[in-house]
Amino acid sequence: MTQRAFDVNAIRSDFPIFSRLLPKGVPLTYLDSGASSQKPQCVIDKERDVNEQYYANAYRGVHQFGARISEELDEVRDKVRAFIAAESADEIVFTSGTTMSINLVAQGWGRKYLSPGDVIVINEMEHHANFVPWQFIAEQTGAQIEFIPLTDDGRLDIEKAADVITKRTKLVAVCGMSNVTGVINPIETICSLARDVGALVLVDAAQSVPHALVNVVADGIDFLAFSGHKLFGPSGIGVLYGRRELLDAMDPVFCGGHMINTVSKSQSTWADPPAKFEAGTPAITQTIGLGTAIDYVNSIGLTAIHDHEQQLLRYAHEQLEKIPGMRIHGPGPVQKGPIVSFTIDQVAAEDLAQLLSRKGVFVRHGHHCTMPLHDWLGIPATTRASFAMYNTTVDVDALVSGIHFARERLRLT
Ligand SMILES: Cc1ncc(COP(=O)(O)O)c(C=O)c1O
Repeated sequence: MTQRAFDVNAIRSDFPIFSRLLPKGVPLTYLDSGASSQKPQCVIDKERDVNEQYYANAYRGVHQFGARISEELDEVRDKVRAFIAAESADEIVFTSGTTMSINLVAQGWGRKYLSPGDVIVINEMEHHANFVPWQFIAEQTGAQIEFIPLTDDGRLDIEKAADVITKRTKLVAVCGMSNVTGVINPIETICSLARDVGALVLVDAAQSVPHALVNVVADGIDFLAFSGHKLFGPSGIGVLYGRRELLDAMDPVFCGGHMINTVSKSQSTWADPPAKFEAGTPAITQTIGLGTAIDYVNSIGLTAIHDHEQQLLRYAHEQLEKIPGMRIHGPGPVQKGPIVSFTIDQVAAEDLAQLLSRKGVFVRHGHHCTMPLHDWLGIPATTRASFAMYNTTVDVDALVSGIHFARERLRLT
């Protein structure tokens, strides 16, 4: 695909939400793409087009609409395959999102292959979606959870990882990028440590795929999970990549239509992957919208997106660090993606998010579904600004000026 030159203003004009003003004519400063990104016009149009012109159920009817929908879903599967450099489109399972993808592995693989004495390795920076499913399956199977320790600045302590990933380890679950500190994890190294002891690796790529290229084969990733709604696509659609032989060996978790080969009164047999894991009617327009979102990202190019966001991240760190009482959690703007989570002395995260919202600056506050990480940080909540390809230094300036406004309101200046 030919890529256009990176032009942030042209990119912004692709997203209709940025042409609206908030009440009282306040411009929108959207710094919550880590929670959910905005959608370009082409994604919005594509979903509308399906609904208006040829909507039907998939993989069922042979009529013209049904056949076209099935064909387009297959095309999206292949786009996803190419996007993460997987070998076969059969390794791409459509799910409702990252959370479901991870639960599918925990239950479909874990229930069959984990037993007492086995170890699942996680760490304290994981989102609850890559934490609780492992606790749950450990409880169900008698397996144990062990943790790769974090360094003082919140990165994985890779030196110590080799002591934690041992012959008892059956699976290592790790995020590509933290949704709080933005830390980017050394996935290739983790995969190699896991491979040395015969363990599998699941990568929660919910935060990393909108910002950096991934190559599941080159990195040696066994399972990878991500969500459409953080990748400029619709909500309700996500992806689970699994190496073919692993998907073949796993049990289904949800049973019903489409996931069977034969059904009789006495027993049923399963379809081959990915159908085995896709019981019921799929998220039709959302899946097709995800394909359009991937085309859009490819048309700009993740390398250019990454470079733009890294510059913005450095600028954000420089500007935010000048604010009195500011503490940015996690490492400096190297080895991290475009997320800044911080606390400010004497300012409650919720008060700050509310005051910023009055100025049209949308950030997230709270524990961001990472209570173990906040326990590790020793604080109940942070304020998080998360950036995407459409953000600019103007957005950073609006954040900084909003924080000054909040400090004044709270009589801290
Ligand atoms: C790192 C990470 N993992 C998993 C998830 C869960 O994604 P979803 O809610 O789309 O399933 C999120 C969402 O914020 C996330 O940031």
